[in-house]
Amino acid sequence: MIADQARLRSDLLAWYARTGRDLPWRTTRDPYAIWVSEIMLQQTQVRTVLPYYKRWLAVLPTLKDLAAADEQVVLKLWEGLGYYTRARNLHRAARYLWTAHAGVFPHNFEQVVALPGVGRSTAGAILSSAFNLPCAILDANVRRVVSRLAAVDLPAERAGSALWQLSEQLLDPAYPRDFNQALMDLGATVCLPRRPLCPVCPWQEACLAHQSGQPERFSTRPRRPPRPHRYLVSVIIRSADTILLVRRPERGLLAGLWEFPGLEVDSEDQGLDALQTAFGPALQITGTLGRIQHEYSHLRVSAQVFNSSWQTAPETLSGPPGIREKAWVSPDAWSDYPMPQIAHKIARLYRECQQLT
Ligand code: ADE
Repeated sequence: MIADQARLRSDLLAWYARTGRDLPWRTTRDPYAIWVSEIMLQQTQVRTVLPYYKRWLAVLPTLKDLAAADEQVVLKLWEGLGYYTRARNLHRAARYLWTAHAGVFPHNFEQVVALPGVGRSTAGAILSSAFNLPCAILDANVRRVVSRLAAVDLPAERAGSALWQLSEQLLDPAYPRDFNQALMDLGATVCLPRRPLCPVCPWQEACLAHQSGQPERFSTRPRRPPRPHRYLVSVIIRSADTILLVRRPERGLLAGLWEFPGLEVDSEDQGLDALQTAFGPALQITGTLGRIQHEYSHLRVSAQVFNSSWQTAPETLSGPPGIREKAWVSPDAWSDYPMPQIAHKIARLYRECQQLT
């Protein structure tokens, strides 16, 4: 299916030797550190990951440290990266490896791909990078590179097995580590989604998409379904010098993170009544702090934010249903609590309003 594999491999490896990016997970062979990097790099760009990766390894340098860590510490280290299930899966998998695998990171594909949060491509990336094993990868960038190389003109949903085959055929069995890293760099820096930089590509000559004159056409990304819009009403509840934080349930979106209490409503004009009903008469709403918008990959959220004070003893607060854990925390100590970005936006709004009064 592909012309002259040997030439493609050597051209890519020569290009990587000249221009490959100097990334911290490429100078280690520690499977734990590489695993952490590959999980962070799922759905997140290298530039964003770099400071998180360094901080994580400074605090949790080994699998043993992660297995022993408190969940709050893990979530705090992940705070701002999004897709928090990734952090919880890392934690869960580390505990499993610590007890069931004597803390030794597995060397074979079946065991690695069975870890929570690790799919076929991530397993290939970890095993090739840590142990130089000949396991192929197919993340979004690599999909684009190989689709173009072989001009695979199939809808994304149907292209998977053809693209996996290509990635496997191309992989250099003598240098799987460097080959896969090179393929990722090619996708991230040259074979760009909209404006591929064909003149500097080591595969330009062989690339069928380039020969077609429309390389950008072969860029198979599954279409995103339209995102639903949700309305939230959130409230800052003050008692003495503290504000109420509540912890999200153990499952679902943003599991285990802390936030300001809130409710989902069908429309914005229901917000105030819904809060008053949920918290009862001890909640005295003192004003509105404004509105924030937030976008998730699958959801758009508008939140209306109110300011309030709690009129009786803090222990008397029980609503709304679903609050499992709560804490009355001074704003100076909010940073000890892992919060999603939307809660940080609300915190910023609150602080801005405090400065005005
Ligand atoms: N994206 C996913 N894995 C990566 C890696 N090892 N280097 C650069 N980008 C990546």
